Amino acid sequence: MRVLGLIVSMALIAVPAFGDDVPFAASHSDRPQPAADSYVNTLSDIMGLTQSRHIKLWFAGRAKNWDLASFEISQIEETFGKAAMLYRNIPIELIVAGEKPLEVMRKAAAAKDSALFAKAFAELDNSCNGCHRAAEVGFIKIQTPTSSPFTDQQFEGGHE
Ligand code: HEC
Repeated sequence: MRVLGLIVSMALIAVPAFGDDVPFAASHSDRPQPAADSYVNTLSDIMGLTQSRHIKLWFAGRAKNWDLASFEISQIEETFGKAAMLYRNIPIELIVAGEKPLEVMRKAAAAKDSALFAKAFAELDNSCNGCHRAAEVGFIKIQTPTSSPFTDQQFEGGHE
């Protein structure tokens, strides 16, 4: 059984059924393809992480926990970077569109500017949805979160 389990899990690693069926309007025939010979997260795994971080970023900003907000900005940048690296045919402008509001939010965090933060957050939502529409998954609609599912994490306060 153990050997069978191993074979099954190796097969799963070797034959990823990934985002290779994700179309992008800007590159009709191409599909996002995982880079060869690397450990590959599926695009939806990466997006699941992005979603958690998107929620945490909002609640960190709302609590004026600028250290945590800056951390989550870096985390989302990392997930966007990973998506771009692993799925080479994602049109770069769609990644850039997501990175721009993150840069603005970084400045907002440094200036402790809640209004600028909220404005850039709405732009981030738009960039998420812009890419989803381009990838023909426009039914995945991102909005500013209304409540935090992360009841095990405090958003208030900064460094202990
Ligand atoms: C550069 C393109 C792009 C950007 C930017 C982007 N996404 Fe996505 N996202 C996708 C694609 C493509 C899928 C569908 C993946 C698939 O088919 O497996 C997806 C799927 C998702 C999903 C569904 C995952 C699941 O398995 O249920 C969520 C949630 C998500 N994205 C959240 C976000 C959030 C939040 C943002 C912005 C902070 C964002 N995405 C920005 C391309 C993008």
